[in-house]
Amino acid sequence: MTQARIAPSILSADFARLGEEVKNVIAAGADLIHFDVMDNHYVPNLTIGPLVCEAIKPYATVPIDVHLMVSPVDRIVPDFAKAGADIITFHPEASSHIDRTLGLIKHHGCQAGLVFNPATPLDYLDYVLDKVDMVLLMSVNPGFGGQSFIPAMLDKARACRARLDAYKARSGRHIHLEIDGGVKIDNIGDIASAGVDTFVAGSAIFGHANYAQIIGDMKAEIER
Ligand code: DX5
Ligand code: ZN
Repeated sequence: MTQARIAPSILSADFARLGEEVKNVIAAGADLIHFDVMDNHYVPNLTIGPLVCEAIKPYATVPIDVHLMVSPVDRIVPDFAKAGADIITFHPEASSHIDRTLGLIKHHGCQAGLVFNPATPLDYLDYVLDKVDMVLLMSVNPGFGGQSFIPAMLDKARACRARLDAYKARSGRHIHLEIDGGVKIDNIGDIASAGVDTFVAGSAIFGHANYAQIIGDMKAEIER
């Protein structure tokens, strides 16, 4: 199996000390920084944009994983690429031209991915896998940190991993499978067994007094 990656969601960080939080969580073992962008239109919450991405870039010695919960998608992509995003994922329902948006992200030099809400079928992947570097499965409805993991998403992760494995068998290319929402120390082992390799965790990491301990414990659970 591919090396597991932990992606702390800075949505649950202390925004007044964001650079320091990013630095600390990387020192504690974070493999990616998950950056949640919400527009109060596609999702009912409003968060951070390219200016904040640019501000944390000097502290981010690991890739910045930008999760766009915005509609429309295309016009904000170049701004995030310029601001230092390494991976950009978006929700297919938020783009009128999914293939074009994937191409746009790659044209700007970033890795690209699609995000699936809990009830969104995986069929959007069918004709675009060549342009996809990562699939993100939402295990809560997007918009807020601190929600509970939806158990049915374990089956969805297994189904998605099977599709990605079949693709790898014919193309030789590994596509990462990331999960986002309600990931905790007591469910991360089961999620890993379902084929997920990249784990977003917001409240579980930033709500813990010792980042190195919780990230280390999560990695140990994944490897068990
Ligand atoms: C929710 C966001 C998540 C969120 C995860 O819409 O996409 O990244 O911050 O937070 P937790 O880990 O607290 O569920
Ligand atoms: Zn997210």
